[in-house]
Amino acid sequence: MTESAPLAVELRGITKRFPGVVANRDIELRVARGEVHAIVGENGAGKSTLMKTLYGMHRPDEGQILLDGREVVFKSPSDAIAAGVGMVHQHFMLADNLTVLENVVLGAEKSHGIGEKARRRITEISDSYALGLDPDSLVEDLGVGDRQRVEIAKVLYRGATTLILDEPTAVLVPQEVDELFGNLAELKREGLTVIFISHKLDEVRKVADSITVIRRGTTVGTADPATTSAKQLAEMMVGAQLPTPQTRTSTVREASVLLMSGVTVATPGGRPAVDDVTLRVREGEVVGIAGVEGNGQAELVDAIMGLRPLAAGTIDLGTDDITRWSTRARREGGIGFIPEDRHRQGMLLDAPLWENRVLGHQTRPPSVKGPFIDRRGARADTARIMSEYDVRAPGPDTLAVALSGGNQQKLIVGREMSAAPRLLIAAHPTRGVDVGAQSVIWELLKDARAEGMGIVLISADLDELIGLSDTLHVMLRGRLVATLDPSALTPEELGGHMTGAVQSAGSPA
Ligand SMILES: Nc1ncnc2c1ncn2[C@@H]1O[C@H](COP(=O)(O)OP(=O)(O)OP(=O)(O)O)[C@@H](O)[C@H]1O
Ligand SMILES: [Mg+2]
Repeated sequence: MTESAPLAVELRGITKRFPGVVANRDIELRVARGEVHAIVGENGAGKSTLMKTLYGMHRPDEGQILLDGREVVFKSPSDAIAAGVGMVHQHFMLADNLTVLENVVLGAEKSHGIGEKARRRITEISDSYALGLDPDSLVEDLGVGDRQRVEIAKVLYRGATTLILDEPTAVLVPQEVDELFGNLAELKREGLTVIFISHKLDEVRKVADSITVIRRGTTVGTADPATTSAKQLAEMMVGAQLPTPQTRTSTVREASVLLMSGVTVATPGGRPAVDDVTLRVREGEVVGIAGVEGNGQAELVDAIMGLRPLAAGTIDLGTDDITRWSTRARREGGIGFIPEDRHRQGMLLDAPLWENRVLGHQTRPPSVKGPFIDRRGARADTARIMSEYDVRAPGPDTLAVALSGGNQQKLIVGREMSAAPRLLIAAHPTRGVDVGAQSVIWELLKDARAEGMGIVLISADLDELIGLSDTLHVMLRGRLVATLDPSALTPEELGGHMTGAVQSAGSPA
């Protein structure tokens, strides 16, 4: 790299205001061609907003965007794409009822049509970056990992030379993260530039060539990944210590809150998504389910929540057989649910926060008073959740869509914990939240467990799984294939079990 080579991307003095919020203030960003550049900062710091500016989704109020040393003005993402800038969003934007091919081609029919030529190009892209995509799969059948690869393919298909990835690894298990980093290395070799946002500081240090830290809307500095520790990065971000999920004193009691017996969930044709699973969760116990995305965890959760019919088996909640109960009855019976995909299952984006507080809890105080929705009660309780869970937003009447990703997640966790469920199904509870908020959520889960809540924990964060779980099951191809003792387990060992590389001596409970 020569000194005089123009920067692939330079943002100068970018300021972006939303009503009541300065999301970005005088931000500077300098990204060299062919590098992987990470952006870190706590929830609501302004990372996504900055990248949306670069991608032409909105105009900055002040400042300049330079690509290869030349100033550009983007009126829309299509201008950005034409200039070689593509973005994969924090929340996927695919059409569920279309195929991979249709999703990739949609809006870019001009490049290679919609037929054989398009299919060939997608296969080419998929092969050269090892994305493993089948052009004919329906997107609704794909797990989050695959959805993300479709998003990446979509951007590459449009000829992007600068790729923005907003929290690409939040949804991936370690093996997939390694694969993605392999893909990024490929992109880099081809001379592409990658800007990525992540809350996983160790990972940032591993993959990034340089790091920009943002705090409360403005740049606080850059860091060299080779010489900056994760702890130092966290301190630059928030001035906080890095948390650990460790919890070793057992609070497990005898009474079981959840008992699944021989549960099977069928898929149309093919082998069952959940195959003869027997699982017990006792009061005060965190039962972790480890597995590579797409091995039946999502269907297992759906089965517990009554969102999918069982082909066989029974489910008991405490002493009640709830196998035939509706989802609503299960919730009222004391099951809390932090869903995997907060946008598809957890939130109404165009509704204010207080309405989101009511969502799924519309039959109980503080959401209702007599037969009516209690707006005042819901608002007041939303304000309480916002302060306890550090949800950063102007107030209960703010629309959910105006919250940063991590703040949306904190609101959902707060809502579900507030109902004081007997059993909490926590799918990726800290996905997308910053290190400070993560430790808050961990503490709350630990406290609830100590008070007797049973928790089913599904997470792609192996440190979190190992640190919080009292019992850890490994799920592979729909079956629980191993039961491991989290107190004597490394993430590497767990990873081996998850891919089936290690055959376990331990048998499922
Ligand atoms: N469309 C919008 N309308 C109003 N405010 C918004 C909008 N989008 C973002 N904001 C606000 O701008 C600030 C920065 O949000 P942004 O999404 O950029 O944060 P982030 O750094 O990406 O956080 P996270 O790590 O949680 O994703 C937040 O205060 C957020 O509430
Ligand atoms: Mg964001």
